[in-house]
Order: sequence, then structure tokens, then C-alpha cells
Amino acid sequence: MIISITNQKGGVGKSTSAINVASGLAFKGYRVLLIDLDPQANITKVFISSGDDIPLQKSLYNVLINFYPLENIIQETKTNNLFLAPSHIRLSGADLELSQAIDNRSERLKRALISVAQDYDQIIIDTPPSLGLLTINALAASDKMIIPVSTSYFALNGLVQLQEIINLVKQTQLNPSINILGVLCTFSDHTNVSRDVEKQLREYFGELVFDTTIPKNVSLEEAHSNHTHIFDYAPKSTGAQAYKKLVKEVLAR
Ligand SMILES: Nc1ncnc2c1ncn2[C@@H]1O[C@H](COP(=O)(O)OP(=O)(O)OP(=O)(O)O)[C@@H](O)[C@H]1O
Ligand SMILES: [Mg+2]
Repeated sequence: MIISITNQKGGVGKSTSAINVASGLAFKGYRVLLIDLDPQANITKVFISSGDDIPLQKSLYNVLINFYPLENIIQETKTNNLFLAPSHIRLSGADLELSQAIDNRSERLKRALISVAQDYDQIIIDTPPSLGLLTINALAASDKMIIPVSTSYFALNGLVQLQEIINLVKQTQLNPSINILGVLCTFSDHTNVSRDVEKQLREYFGELVFDTTIPKNVSLEEAHSNHTHIFDYAPKSTGAQAYKKLVKEVLAR
């Protein structure tokens, strides 16, 4: 299954969820490819700790812009079964470059995946906080999407925008069969705001909202700066427990 983690709102836990869902699936024995389609390259920096940037030729930039084979940029990670397709800061220009391209600018990732998809049991795509062509490429290539929503602030405006993404994806001829796998409540804590936002999400999206909520947990952030995922950094933390439960739900859906 190919799953995009998407929300055009920034800082809602997309990359954190992509890392930990992918790692959790790898821990369960699935062969997982994690695709970092965000020019911020947050995931790439977590897994590639050398401090050196990935060469442009060995990044998704080369795949999307120059039709370089995806298999040639995929790297192993320290985690068994987990593989990474790295981003590059130059991807920030790829949206503009793609918008000027005439040939299938929205389906470049989908096409690149054709020859590698069968090598992996699960493919997780992290997307940037925007609805540009990179995100469109991710959605065109995906079977499902997971939408993380932060419960730490009043999110009604976000809900409207979220509905717009869903409509856009549904209406697009690019991928009419894509479905929401689930809406994920993130940054949850015991404040009234968090409870209220979660309640609203459950009223609005019903069964689509995962039972699992991701708590605010500093270990999740610390794992990133330690260049690893939560199951490695703090396997007993509330964050690890929540992502473990989420992985089960993802597999069950
Ligand atoms: N549940 C959590 N508890 C505490 N900190 C978290 C949690 N989830 C994510 N963070 C931290 O919050 C910040 C934003 O999270 P993350 O990068 O996953 O969001 P994002 O949606 O990918 O952001 P962007 O839109 O910029 O790509 C990061 O510093 C991350 O380490
Ligand atoms: Mg991110």
C-alpha cells in the first residue's frame, strides 16, 4: 500500500508520523520505503546524520526533474527493513520547474514508483505543508492518505481547508480512487482546547478518525535530534506506545 501523510498546515506532525509509522511497520517485518517529498528534508536529516548534504543527483530532485530511476537514489537506513528516498533543498524549486513542464508534471512520482513498488510491502510518503505540485505528485501516486491534525489549537479553519484537500483529491482525474485511511489527532494533551478539538474532529469525520491519538511527548522530538525513530530512542515512552497502536490500526484498516 502507498500512503501519503498530508496536511497543508505546517507543524501538525506529518514528518514525525511518517517516520514512526514507517519505522513501526519495518519493526513488524514489512519492507518499507519512506519517501521524503518535502524540500525541508526533515526526514532525510533524521536518517542521514553525516552532516553532509545528499548530492542532488542522489535525491528525489533528480528523479522528478530528470527522470532518474528511483531505485538509484534509495538508501538503506540503520533500521532493518526501512529504506529512504531522500529529499534535497533544491526540491523547493521543483514545484516551479514542474509547473512549467508540459509532460505529466503531476504523475512523475507515480511513474517513478512503477518499477520499485513491487520491492516494498509498504510505501510512506511525507509531503510538504502546501498544496503544490509536490503534494499533488504524492496524492496521484497514493492509494491512501493519512491526515494528521494538531489538537493543540482551535482547528475549525483547518477543517474547512482539510475538506478542500479531500474534495480536490476526489475530484481530480489524477487519482479518483484515493481514499482517506484516517484522520490522526496529534499533540493531544489534557487541556480543554485539545479535548474540544478532538471532539469536533470526531463529530465531523466520524469513523475516519483513528482511535489512537498521538500525545504531546518530548521524546518524539528528541528522537529526531538523535537521528532515529521513537522505537529506538524511547521505546517505553507514551509517544512510542501511541505510534505502535497506530501502526496496528493502519494495518487493520
Ligand atoms: N506528538 C508530539 N509531541 C511533541 N513534539 C512533537 C510531536 N509531534 C511532532 N513534534 C515536534 O513538533 C515539530 C513539528 O512536527 P513535524 O515536523 O512532524 O510536523 P510537520 O507537519 O511535518 O511540519 P511541516 O509542515 O513543517 O513539515 C517537530 O519539531 C517535531 O519534533
Ligand atoms: Mg514535515
